[in-house]
Amino acid sequence: MQTKIDEYKKEVDLFEPSNKEALEQFRIRFLGKKGILTDLFADFKNVAPDQKRLMGQLINELKNKAEQKLETYKESFESLVVVGNTFDLSRPAEPIKLGTRHPLSVVRNEIISIFSRLGFTVSDGPEIEDDWHNFSALNFPQEHPARDMQDTFFINKNPDIALRTHTSSVQVRVMENSKPPICTISPGRVFRNEAISARAHCLFHQIEGLYVDKDVSFIDLKQTLLYFAKEMFGEKTKIRLRPSYFPFTEPSAEMDISCNICGGKGCNICKYSGWVEILGCGMVDPNVFTNCGIDSNVYTGFAFGMGIERITMLKYEINDLRLFFENDIRFLKQFSSAV
Ligand code: PHE
Repeated sequence: MQTKIDEYKKEVDLFEPSNKEALEQFRIRFLGKKGILTDLFADFKNVAPDQKRLMGQLINELKNKAEQKLETYKESFESLVVVGNTFDLSRPAEPIKLGTRHPLSVVRNEIISIFSRLGFTVSDGPEIEDDWHNFSALNFPQEHPARDMQDTFFINKNPDIALRTHTSSVQVRVMENSKPPICTISPGRVFRNEAISARAHCLFHQIEGLYVDKDVSFIDLKQTLLYFAKEMFGEKTKIRLRPSYFPFTEPSAEMDISCNICGGKGCNICKYSGWVEILGCGMVDPNVFTNCGIDSNVYTGFAFGMGIERITMLKYEINDLRLFFENDIRFLKQFSSAV
């Protein structure tokens, strides 16, 4: 009996199945109901008492070996593709599909890259803000309509806390915590209580910029924005500044660029005016400096802010803002070649 068991052990050791069927044959031969091990255990009854201990041990060893072999190959067959009777190791691997960057990320990165070439750093801040950083420090009068429930998502239990409505709040934090010269942009998500449509959403993305130093003038602002517009929309792009109002800048302006779609001739994107509005800007109001601990007699500065969705829509001629949030792969994969 012992020699028989030794032979079986050798057989198990040498066994290398090339497919699932061979492995199944092996299982039936050794571990099946009418298999070798069943026979061996049956014969065990006839073993002489002084041999029982040794034989029992040997049979169990064989059983464990056979079971182990079965387990090892079972796993590998389950995880491999089998072609015919063999593994086809020459089959080309299935390429792993890379995701594509979201168009808003593509444009955000491009804007960051343009401003970083001018020396702007990137600053980050919380999306849940207090009244001070989102409004009060920015010179919003207490009764300003932008604080109204219609525009701002306040936290029910605490009217002092809200979802930030612009990333100007980050600039307040930067001014509070550092000394001029300050030259930074703050990209991020902002929230406003707006009805969702092709042109508006309750969540969107902004990039705001701030430059504070001695002798910063409106000319610096204009030149910075002209550089940005040309880099973003092409060398031929023209800009135009129209007077506007923001509580935190004085004077304030809104900037239009010459329509990059019709080249200024007039189309439905620019509403046949040849110009499209892309951002708000102005010279930082001295009150804001005082609120943030910066001496407004020594320093001046400019600020600007733009919606990334709007820039992306103009750049790629996208006519519905909701597309950015639907995560439809057919839309998203069109931007795969963009940087
Ligand atoms: N914070 C303004 C907005 O959200 C944009 C802006 C920034 C305007 C800086 C002027 C200066 O609309």
